[in-house]
Amino acid sequence: MPKNIKIIGVGSYLPEKILTNVDIEKIVDTTDEWITERTGIKERRIARKDQATSDLGIEAAKKALEDASVDPKELDLILVATITPDMSFPSTACIIQDKLGAENAAALDISAACSGFVYGLVVCHSLICQGQYKKVLLVAAETLSKITNWEDRGTCVLLGDGAGAVVVTSCDCENEGLLASSLGAIGSAGKLLYLPAGGSRNPATHETIDEKMHYLRMQGNELFKVAVKSLVDAAKDVMQKAKVTSEDIALFIPHQANVRIINATAKRVGIPKEKVFINVNKYGNTSAATIPIALNEALRAGRIKKGDLILLDAFGGGLTWGAVLLRW
Ligand code: ACO
Repeated sequence: MPKNIKIIGVGSYLPEKILTNVDIEKIVDTTDEWITERTGIKERRIARKDQATSDLGIEAAKKALEDASVDPKELDLILVATITPDMSFPSTACIIQDKLGAENAAALDISAACSGFVYGLVVCHSLICQGQYKKVLLVAAETLSKITNWEDRGTCVLLGDGAGAVVVTSCDCENEGLLASSLGAIGSAGKLLYLPAGGSRNPATHETIDEKMHYLRMQGNELFKVAVKSLVDAAKDVMQKAKVTSEDIALFIPHQANVRIINATAKRVGIPKEKVFINVNKYGNTSAATIPIALNEALRAGRIKKGDLILLDAFGGGLTWGAVLLRW
């Protein structure tokens, strides 16, 4: 049986349209100054009307496959982390499987909101190390703009669209790959961030549309506190499991929701600013996609070298949280 997994290809895709804070000032009662100070976000990308989540995911997937020199037909599993699937079913993973021509791959969506990519890596680890799957494509793709209430200044300033993808395979090297993981959920806090309608609880009716129940709802300040605690606990847990300290971490890639959440977490975990990757200023919160987009940018910027210890850490709707420690 394989001992571990490794990432052999990374890619990302961001829609072309940029929506700046100044543009948002014209839509809701807010200011560039408020958004910058409270969140660190300056702009975000918005998908075209005709672009669904799979369209973003497929672009990121193609780049990751090219980076890994893997043909889609070699894939035996496709996982897609998303809370904005093209439709309830077929899964976005099946839609991407078809568009890629990855006919030998099984396909499955993962619903863990912003923690979806980290959850996905742990699923990859389990399935690959169990010996049944050899080459897995993990995509995280979101079109949050399509579930955003553009009249709600408490949420619309935070969110954006984008996708990231990795190709994962087995690895028999000692002390390489995924060294430790920690996943968790706090279902009782689910109402801090949720989409009320469109499922079997509240199927679409004229009333659900009038009440704007097909848009994401969030209690931002309550979520903020849980977010920092979950991120800190998960980071400490993986470091303890792998018997490493914060000084050993070469790069910390946290979920990009708010620069204040990132800074508070890094400080409590004991990671200095220069080792923290931040791009929330450019893309806002793209949910599950933030970490693979950041991972791709960090790699292209030369901020990750072979042998580096990378900490990925996320929290999101559910609530869910998770961290993984990777030896690159
Ligand atoms: N512009 C101007 N004022 C605003 C805006 C805005 N865009 N949004 C809220 N305000 C106002 C509020 O109405 C409030 O005014 P009041 O005091 O008169 O009532 C004031 O600003 C303070 O509001 P808070 O919500 O307490 O502000 P806070 O400092 O907590 O910042 C924020 C809000 C940015 C939402 C923050 O709480 C946050 O980032 N929370 C976490 C959000 C998050 O990470 N979500 C993650 C997941 S998203 C996903 O999973 C898809």
